Amino acid sequence: MKKDFYRSAIEESMNKYVLNFSSSLKDDIWIIYEDIIGTQAHNIMLFEQGIINKKEIKKILLSLRKIKNKVDNGEFILNEDFEDIHPLIEYNVIEDIGMDAGGKIHTGRSRNDQVSVDLRLKIRSELNNLSNNIFEFTDILYKLSKESIDSYMPLYTHLQRAQLGQFSHYINYYIAQILRVEVRINEGYKRINKNPLGACAIGGTSININRKRTTELLGFDGIIENSIDSISSRDYIIEILNILSLFALHLSRISEDLIIWATKEFDFIDLDGQFCSGSSVMPQKKNPDTLELIRAKSSIIISNSFKASMIIKAVPSGYFKDFQELKPILKESFNIVNSILEILKGIFSTMKLKKEKMIRTINESYILALDLAEILVNEYNIPFRLTHQIIGDLVRKSKNPKDLFDIEKIKKVLLDKKLNNLSLSSNFIESIKNLKTCLDKRISKGSPSHKNVNIYLNQLFDEKNDLFELYNRRTQKIEEADSSRNKIIQELIL
Ligand code: ARG
Repeated sequence: MKKDFYRSAIEESMNKYVLNFSSSLKDDIWIIYEDIIGTQAHNIMLFEQGIINKKEIKKILLSLRKIKNKVDNGEFILNEDFEDIHPLIEYNVIEDIGMDAGGKIHTGRSRNDQVSVDLRLKIRSELNNLSNNIFEFTDILYKLSKESIDSYMPLYTHLQRAQLGQFSHYINYYIAQILRVEVRINEGYKRINKNPLGACAIGGTSININRKRTTELLGFDGIIENSIDSISSRDYIIEILNILSLFALHLSRISEDLIIWATKEFDFIDLDGQFCSGSSVMPQKKNPDTLELIRAKSSIIISNSFKASMIIKAVPSGYFKDFQELKPILKESFNIVNSILEILKGIFSTMKLKKEKMIRTINESYILALDLAEILVNEYNIPFRLTHQIIGDLVRKSKNPKDLFDIEKIKKVLLDKKLNNLSLSSNFIESIKNLKTCLDKRISKGSPSHKNVNIYLNQLFDEKNDLFELYNRRTQKIEEADSSRNKIIQELIL
């Protein structure tokens, strides 16, 4: 059979350069298993509908199995005479079992619904893999958070020392953000896991296909109703790329935090040497290169979502070859995000907290100024704006952060503000000097008091378990569809 068998109405063969320019063959390897699975399901359905007979389905399924085995063993030849994987597989089947049976595998479908099925199957498995990776990462963060309860740290705004906090509270904020990514994945998944197969080229088919059946066989949650929507829409890809982009943004900021904390100027953490590099010339160097690369590689993921939107924004409705360019983008974004997670899992499970150094930084700063001002509000009913000025004066005139707790110095400022009728209790002042009691005064929900941090940690644990349960349901549904499809295949090829 001639290799360019799709070109029935075209006299000339495709020019080699044009073929090379338009081929997606190398990118299609990413979806080759999905293409085989989609073709198996489509043909089982054709058989069940009486469109192909028992002998034919047996030959087709055996031939598809041969192709899969070749792919498994690295023996499948990516013949560059083909513009993509779909005709290459069809060609292989026809060469193997002849036109009579092989020529029927593409009945009632088009490459347009086929590629969309393949992509949805692939994205679905990539998302499940990513979720699994996310749960492993959050488990590591959870453990770190639990271990570092009551490790005090300064919190920063504008990279200036702001308020007293604790490390666990910080890690909980990372976990919360990451779990929200998983919530979005779970939401997006509902739109991914829909079956476009049966839309054919754009307007359906007169062949008596059964879309509900391929939906079951492939473990989809339902069909994409409209045939144009099935082959023309790419919102499902943009949505996922946007989620990956948002996730990359979080991971980049987390990496930036770690880079800052690992500087000698901060010195809050010690990164394990496995994740750092040295200098060719400065013998003392231990550079956090991997984190810098996360910062840079996350930009690729973020720009990929923009790139994809740009590719489809002016494409009229219908299928156009522009869509082909989305495949390598998706693949790259999934690959990078997983590799970043791999690195961050290692970094967070090996880094050491420098608890003493963080306490020293707290003690060297005026970080408790707001806590002190609030004591004056809570205990002496002084208007907050006035306490802001009082403590501000104290800080301005002081040479040493310890002055913040010097009752005589406080009294002096109060006197300046004509508040000499207050009998200041040193107990209140002492209570904020102690970091634990100081934080425990932060009674607002969500603040880093010991109690709040513990409650929130448990809440995050429950949230993670709920999401894990949803993830399990997703993978279970696929496993069930796979095993029932494989059982049917097994029976048909006997
Ligand atoms: N290689 C194409 C892609 O990745 C497959 C679909 C081709 N369909 C078509 N009508 N040319 O999108």
